[in-house]
Amino acid sequence: MASGTSRDVIQRGLSVLGRAIREQPRIFAVAVAGSVLFGGLVIVSAYVVGAVVGDVVVPAVENGAVGTGTLALAAVALFGISVLRVVGIFGRRLGAGYMQFRLQAAYRRRVTRRYLELPLSWHHRNATGTLLSNANSDVEAAWYPIAPLPFAVGTLVMLVGAVGSLFLTDWALALVGLAVFPALFALNVVYSRRMAPRQALAQRLRAEVSGIAHESFDGALVVKTMGREAQETARFAGRAQELRDSLISVGRLRGVFDPLLETLPSLGTLAVLVVGTIRLRQGAITVTELVSVAFLFTVLAFPVRAIGWVLAELPRSVAGWDRVSRVLDATGEMPYGDVTLDGGGAPATLAFDGVHFGYEPAEAHLPGAQVLGEVAFTVPAGRTVALVGPTGAGKSTIASLAVRLVDPDAGTVTLDGVDVRQLTAGSLASTAALVAQVPFVFDDTVRANISLDRPGIGDDDVWAALRLAEADGFVAALPDGLDTMVGERGTSLSGGQRQRLTLARALAGRPRLLVLDDATSAVDPRVEAAILAGLRAPAPGQHAAASILVVAYRRATIALADEVIYLEQGRVLARGTHTELLATVPGYVDLVTAYEQAEQEREQNRSYDEVPPLPSGLEIEVDR
Ligand SMILES: Nc1ncnc2c1ncn2[C@@H]1O[C@H](COP(=O)(O)OP(=O)(O)OP(=O)(O)O)[C@@H](O)[C@H]1O
Ligand SMILES: [Mg+2]
Repeated sequence: MASGTSRDVIQRGLSVLGRAIREQPRIFAVAVAGSVLFGGLVIVSAYVVGAVVGDVVVPAVENGAVGTGTLALAAVALFGISVLRVVGIFGRRLGAGYMQFRLQAAYRRRVTRRYLELPLSWHHRNATGTLLSNANSDVEAAWYPIAPLPFAVGTLVMLVGAVGSLFLTDWALALVGLAVFPALFALNVVYSRRMAPRQALAQRLRAEVSGIAHESFDGALVVKTMGREAQETARFAGRAQELRDSLISVGRLRGVFDPLLETLPSLGTLAVLVVGTIRLRQGAITVTELVSVAFLFTVLAFPVRAIGWVLAELPRSVAGWDRVSRVLDATGEMPYGDVTLDGGGAPATLAFDGVHFGYEPAEAHLPGAQVLGEVAFTVPAGRTVALVGPTGAGKSTIASLAVRLVDPDAGTVTLDGVDVRQLTAGSLASTAALVAQVPFVFDDTVRANISLDRPGIGDDDVWAALRLAEADGFVAALPDGLDTMVGERGTSLSGGQRQRLTLARALAGRPRLLVLDDATSAVDPRVEAAILAGLRAPAPGQHAAASILVVAYRRATIALADEVIYLEQGRVLARGTHTELLATVPGYVDLVTAYEQAEQEREQNRSYDEVPPLPSGLEIEVDR
């Protein structure tokens, strides 16, 4: 976190800036060159203005006339300086803008790439709202000070030049400068130190506010149906209020310091005029010099603020950077191996051997409970194995292990005899496909949801997959067919339709192992059995059959499996055919019967979406 002393914050802020400069050295050099050009010209312009006043204006007032040559020279000098200053400003702004936005883009990419590399366990521990704000406002905050940075660096150079030129002009005026400029600098430092904790707090609250908002939008259905609108609004309002308070305290501090920072250079100009007039009377300086110095103080006031802007943004930058680097430095990614599998489209063999697994505890000091112990089973090539067990038994965990969303703590998971940890990412994805318990649909067309832009998946393949998932009927009936937009998370689809789309998505990749985690629970039971039957024995010319590991509840579905693995509390209690288990395992009988009763009740109470006419049920589908 961005706690610690404010000196610490400034140091760390400067090191963040150093990182930015190392990443974009050329653009930074351009911006600083522009800024130094500008700063040098500010000093030069002060002396030119002084000269114009001393050599043109004063003689004109005293004699009533000036030579045209002098006048032209003055005009050309002032015009030339203005043009060069414009060039300097242009270079600085362009460079600073480029640098800032390039860094933002680069780090957004890095953060999101990291999100995708990090394992599921990391994502379980981190709220979506926080991830969004990491990739967005935290990245922005980290690089905020880049915008005024070249200006500030140019200003530092300019201040040194200004003090030097003051000494060349007159020591007394130089002393005024030596008093005012460091005071300005010090004021800026005090300002940013006061600002540090306030900005850090505001940045943290921003993330929290977006987190709460994200959660309640995400859970809009629950919020509405449970009548939690008022409480959710209050929860959000509380945090929004804190953010408001913290931003107001930022504003209040600005209100105090901004006028002070404005006033100090004006006081400096006043002091210059007082001291300068005395020195003028003493004959130590000329009118030209006095005007130059007074002008210098006026024009310096603004650039000096740039230093303050950088310092003031440092705390926010450090807070943002801390949160960004927490993502970039997060460990636990699961490196892929370099073994490729080429099964030539034949079904794959999945084997679990002595697998133990426990989820990482939510907080590091808590013990992690073991979820699976000594799990061993095989899904032979081309076979269908059903995973049955009460809720919380570890079925979804086994599904996650099978497609390597998580790695076992002990034991191995192998595909065609190769440890899944040794496989390349591509091999893994093309071999095994998981259809998860909770279907996820992108806010895109049906076609894009199924093909996912994977190469080699054309419309024909999409339709074939849809047919296999028993989804071709409803997709064909959609207004725009494959081009129909399904809405965010597929809101325009029924639960069963969504499930079948995600199933079709998995099938379109022609996986050699299909892991179905309760993937057809919202589909009519007869359709579910038909889908499974179709997957086991695809029509000629359709997809080759895959090996299937299916988490299932319904008797009709389970009965289609070659073998049933019965799981309780993370352990394999029994295995065999459905009939064998019914005869020998009392827990299994209870479970299957209970499900069946619940299913019957449900069927009486609700109508499934689009029950297709199946005259005599399963057999027809199985024989297809
Ligand atoms: N991300 C997680 N972090 C911590 N514990 C988890 C996590 N996911 C699951 N668990 C725990 O692991 C155990 C097994 O969960 P799992 O989801 O595998 O069960 P399941 O058999 O699929 O249940 P269901 O039939 O309800 O889907 C449960 O006790 C659950 O609380
Ligand atoms: Mg589950």
